[in-house]
Amino acid sequence: MEIYSLEYKYFIHKFVQQKQTHMKTIIAFAGSDSSTSINKKLATYAASLVGGVQVNVLDLNDFELPLYSMDKEKANGIPDNAHKFLKIIKSSDGIVLSLAEHNGTYATVFKNLFDWMSRIDGKLWSEKPMLLMATSPGARGGQTGLNIAADRFQYMGGNIIGKFSLPNFNDNFQDGKIINSDLLSDLMEEVKQFENSL
Ligand SMILES: Cc1cc2nc3c(=O)[nH]c(=O)nc-3n(C[C@H](O)[C@H](O)[C@H](O)COP(=O)(O)O)c2cc1C
Repeated sequence: MEIYSLEYKYFIHKFVQQKQTHMKTIIAFAGSDSSTSINKKLATYAASLVGGVQVNVLDLNDFELPLYSMDKEKANGIPDNAHKFLKIIKSSDGIVLSLAEHNGTYATVFKNLFDWMSRIDGKLWSEKPMLLMATSPGARGGQTGLNIAADRFQYMGGNIIGKFSLPNFNDNFQDGKIINSDLLSDLMEEVKQFENSL
């Protein structure tokens, strides 16, 4: 029998409670496992700007997975954490995701989760409205990886409502928020569209 972790039981308990109160629930997470992830900061911030929803912030460290391999899948099946993450996506009403960029594409920890989940359901994003973002300390703000993801997700149940990349994170994000007013208004535009789609 499958043993569910306390965190997982807590997520499911929260989802059930929120469904009972008819409040929409969105999940927010970063495509990063860094304990100081700037993408987690951005995802958390952007999700906090969405009105009238309950936000569940997820951390990929709570969903550790072996590196995907066909041999491992054949031998041991698909790990519980991939099933758990996919169930959380499917129980949500929307997704705020900010991707870390490593060498011009999304980081391995995210790609790995993505690969495992795609073995359960090729349309893993399940048409949930998504605000897709990226940030980096550099001037392009992780835009290359963001565009690669946006191109791919459309074939995998992706329903990307808003896209935003925050350049030069360390200059533009301070004390938990975006301090550049032009960039903040660009983000707010995307957040509004996302909110209206929920
Ligand atoms: C292996 C590696 C490759 C990286 N490649 C890029 C890159 O291609 N473009 C970029 O803007 N930043 C790159 N960076 C810097 C990351 O954007 C930076 O580490 C950022 O903090 C990652 O996001 P996170 O804090 O949410 O994990 C790279 C960092 C690492 C460790």
